[in-house]
Amino acid sequence: MLTQTFSKLFLFILILFNSNLFAEAPDPVRGKNGMVVSASKLASEVGIEILKKGGNAIDAAVAVGFALAVTYPSAGNIGGGGFMVIRLNDGTTTTIDYREKAPFNAHEKMYQDSAGNFLPQLSQEGTTSAGVPGSVAGLIYALEKYGTMKLKDVIEPAIKLAEKGFILDYRLAQSINYNYQDFLKYPSSKKIFTKDGQPFVEGDLFVQKDLAKTLKLIAENGRDGFYKGDVADKIISQVQSLGGIITHQDLGNYFPVERKPLISSYKRFEVITMGPPSAGGVTLIQTLNILENVSFSRLDWGSSNYIHTITEALKFSFADRAKHLGDPDFYDVPIDKLTSKKYAKELFNRISERAIPSDQIAPTDFSSTFESPETTHYSVIDKFGNAVSTTTTINSSYGSKIVVEGAGFLLNNEMDDFSSKPGEPNQFGLVGSEANKIEPGKRMLSSMTPTIITKENKPVLIVGSPGGSTIPTAVLQVILNYIDFGMDIQEAVNAPRFHHQWIPDQIDYEALGLTRDVMDNLQTKGQIIGTERTLGRVEAIAIENNIYLGATDPRGFGAAVGY
Ligand code: GLY
Repeated sequence: MLTQTFSKLFLFILILFNSNLFAEAPDPVRGKNGMVVSASKLASEVGIEILKKGGNAIDAAVAVGFALAVTYPSAGNIGGGGFMVIRLNDGTTTTIDYREKAPFNAHEKMYQDSAGNFLPQLSQEGTTSAGVPGSVAGLIYALEKYGTMKLKDVIEPAIKLAEKGFILDYRLAQSINYNYQDFLKYPSSKKIFTKDGQPFVEGDLFVQKDLAKTLKLIAENGRDGFYKGDVADKIISQVQSLGGIITHQDLGNYFPVERKPLISSYKRFEVITMGPPSAGGVTLIQTLNILENVSFSRLDWGSSNYIHTITEALKFSFADRAKHLGDPDFYDVPIDKLTSKKYAKELFNRISERAIPSDQIAPTDFSSTFESPETTHYSVIDKFGNAVSTTTTINSSYGSKIVVEGAGFLLNNEMDDFSSKPGEPNQFGLVGSEANKIEPGKRMLSSMTPTIITKENKPVLIVGSPGGSTIPTAVLQVILNYIDFGMDIQEAVNAPRFHHQWIPDQIDYEALGLTRDVMDNLQTKGQIIGTERTLGRVEAIAIENNIYLGATDPRGFGAAVGY
């Protein structure tokens, strides 16, 4: 309580001195019966309509997933994968892992030349970079097991949006045109993402007839509508014509996995998040465990001491990520060790006034003691109190940039999330090791961190973000802003963020995030200041006094819609 009072006071002072930070944060969107927050207003509206028809949060989440594939093509997808964290109103928790998989013909050195040099153009571009898509199988699995509505009814809004089209707003037209040169390279992409070879402009009607056909086949035939028959033939033809290795057998063998969530506590709260093959949840919990030892009432938000302490914690968590995290079906991830409070306390005790250079932080070797791209997030809650937190991706913005000819959707370039060569950074600068090496049928490591937080057995926060390696740090900071500093959910989302991921050894930051004075103090402590950039796009819901409070991130162009 005292912490909250101090925090409010501090925030008030901060607002006085830096009005840009919070003064413009609008109130969160309020709803009593349901809330959907996603990166696309049209998709959020689809979700709310499903809730109004009596669907539950899972029905709405599945409808939003398909709608995003139409209205937010940079990351919404049916050609990628994702993770869904579910908490039902009876307290049941679960997660659906529909992460893409390496094709059967994949091998450890497939992105290296004969001299062993890493070839990022193969892991990040073209159909060689595509993993076997999981989104369709995962969304259908979630619907069949936890939803209440028919598949055709939850896909219907997406089909309409694709078939009849929708008006491109300025931000979406700009986003598509940013990749214009890439789309021109592939006739199938040029057909969809340019206007007969010309860039789109704001106000254009964006129609996707091929995608509508694909969605209809899924609506009629379920997973077979995508993994078999005409759509599967088109995927294989597109992939193989450009040198990719996905086969019909890979598609037919793709199944999502229902996994236990990673559950931990942070102060008086319970944190329910995604475990491996996402590293996001482990990184979040490990960092929260370290920071649980910090008294934030003595640490001013945004001060050099605050940023230094969190940075040191992140260095430990990201160092361990690089060594220990991979697909648990292939690698024995020491989750219990990494997320133990005792281990976190040991790491906390190593934090001092002076920054530890990253090259002096080795990932912990548990063996001696061991016993045994662009992405998008959406949060949903229904009137029954069922909560869904989903993050989905095709990796880079617009994935591989390659549309499957005649099927109207983009292929992912998720294979780059594997560690293609130990120590070699991927597009997010992340390094990996044995745990995340390429193996046939394996899921590449992710940073996606869909999370639900409860208190006294009731959901209080649903949160997640895109942003590759910056996902867990963005989610972490929103949680700290909300829980430890008493910001309202919109302020917590809007507040400038910073990021450290062990390697490279630097603090990246957002505009207004680090004042010159704070940078100087951090450098005095031995920290290295990196680059200014946007960090994450959080879509969050807070639940207070039975009111749902939605907050979309002003860094993007999404919407919170409630009723
Ligand atoms: N492709 C980004 C991630 O899964 O973390």
